Amino acid sequence: MIVSSSIASNEKFRSLSAAEFFYRNKEIAGFSNPARAIYQTVRELVENALDATDSHGILPVIKVAIESDVMPERPDVYLISVEDNGIGIPPDNIPQAFAQLLYSSKYVLRQTRGMFGLGAKMAVLYGQLTTGKPVEVVSSTINSSRIYFFKLAIDVKENKPIVLHRASFKKESDWHGTIVKLFIEGDWNRAKPKVYEYLKRTAIIAPYASIIFKDPSNNVIYFERSTTLMPRPPREVKPHPQGVDIELFKMLVQSTTAKTLKEFLIKEFQGIGEVTSNSIIEMVRIDPARDPKSLSNEEIELIVKTLREYNNFKPPRADHLSYLGEEIIKAGLKNILKPEFVAAKTRKPSVYEGHAFIVEAGIAYGGDIPPSEEPILLRFANKIPLLYDESSDVTWKIVEPKSGTINWDVYEVKWPAPLVILVHICSTKIPYKGVGKESIADVPEVEKEIESCVRDVARELKSYIIRKRREVEEVEKAVEIVKYIPDIATSLAVITNEASYDVISSGLMNLVLKKFKNVKIRDVKDVVLSVE
Ligand SMILES: Nc1ncnc2c1ncn2[C@@H]1O[C@H](COP(=O)(O)OP(=O)(O)O)[C@@H](O)[C@H]1O
Ligand SMILES: [Mg+2]
Repeated sequence: MIVSSSIASNEKFRSLSAAEFFYRNKEIAGFSNPARAIYQTVRELVENALDATDSHGILPVIKVAIESDVMPERPDVYLISVEDNGIGIPPDNIPQAFAQLLYSSKYVLRQTRGMFGLGAKMAVLYGQLTTGKPVEVVSSTINSSRIYFFKLAIDVKENKPIVLHRASFKKESDWHGTIVKLFIEGDWNRAKPKVYEYLKRTAIIAPYASIIFKDPSNNVIYFERSTTLMPRPPREVKPHPQGVDIELFKMLVQSTTAKTLKEFLIKEFQGIGEVTSNSIIEMVRIDPARDPKSLSNEEIELIVKTLREYNNFKPPRADHLSYLGEEIIKAGLKNILKPEFVAAKTRKPSVYEGHAFIVEAGIAYGGDIPPSEEPILLRFANKIPLLYDESSDVTWKIVEPKSGTINWDVYEVKWPAPLVILVHICSTKIPYKGVGKESIADVPEVEKEIESCVRDVARELKSYIIRKRREVEEVEKAVEIVKYIPDIATSLAVITNEASYDVISSGLMNLVLKKFKNVKIRDVKDVVLSVE
């Protein structure tokens, strides 16, 4: 086919700013409709609040409020505010932190909830688009003597903050933290179940936090802190050589102060010392005294390839990960779900593609948990509850009763069962399945760890179920015998004519209890009474 040369090209080329890109693709960051927007805004602000507290060793106190009827003739507009007692934000960083996309203090190797520099800004952007209102931020850092107040908007074309108002006040108390308020168009009725579920799950994973929430109908729910134990705050670490790619290597070269290749390798990576750096340099045959900034693209490619293939590194460190630990998981499950049994397990760090990760799991059974045909699965990544896309998550594939990897019969669980399973993955590189970041992909190493961890807690549940069943059987047996005591005691009292009925029957009762050591007299009486 011949294309006519008279069709002139009218293509117009230009580039987008980060703000304009996300403005056009709001659903990527979870702002796909008015219901999701409320949920996502609460989530982003609460996660920032928790990062500003527990990652810095502060017991969180988080206040969340959603108000309606805040704009005349706009019943669909809500005011969302979140307050924390965290480290606060220095005033010079506040405009960019809230009104310039891809600006963050969390672009380091250290586990936090946020890591993309996007969350707060997406909420601000969505609010700005749907209501035309700016975001309001009040903040004070720990040692500051002033409190700062800003009203900010985003210049979408330029991806820059517009400061509409700035003020500061002398601090009369020792308050520190941040308050963020923003107006957004939303659909509270549809968002409501998700927001409540999100807060409940946050309270389970962070039982050391006090969270108070007021909804648009003025209903207040208070998740009171149930433990003062906190996860160890994450420490920033250097990248592990096996997880490095060419771009990261180039960035490290740009920013390093090392003067030689050898010094660079030792200084910028974890797990490389004298000996390892010597073997790597020998393998790539580059002069160890070379200035790293003088390396050519080919040389960098060769070094990165060698680092990725070198099999003798120590596994990545896990100091930058902040797992909960068994006590905190159990406290969270007990406090919110009121089960009769809980168990928890934290696995040792593992690695996939050079990234360290830790899996932990908890199990809760009985008590206030309603029986159901499937386990209730609580999924978390870096302490963030994952509420959507459950059925495509690798964990669901493992625990699902009909075709899942785990056969629950082995663990004495009979459906319908009152069973809750909690799975938490910590990593600076969570293998999410899609851009929505709501489910975990089937990475074999991760899948194996999750399965082993769930099996660990399931085994504890099994022992509990067996123990409990045995106790019930013992009570039943004891009751079976005790039932005859009145008749026997009456007969004996008549025949012997010596001891009274009371003496004989209590003697026989003691004999029975001696045989069934785990049975309490109350159990027996209760059961006898319930039989009668
Ligand atoms: N409540 C808060 N307390 C302290 N710092 C905050 C708070 N909210 C936001 N920030 C700062 O603003 C930055 C940007 O936040 P955000 O857009 O949500 O991206 P991310 O959380 O991924 O870094 C954070 O990295 C943090 O430094
Ligand atoms: Mg964030």
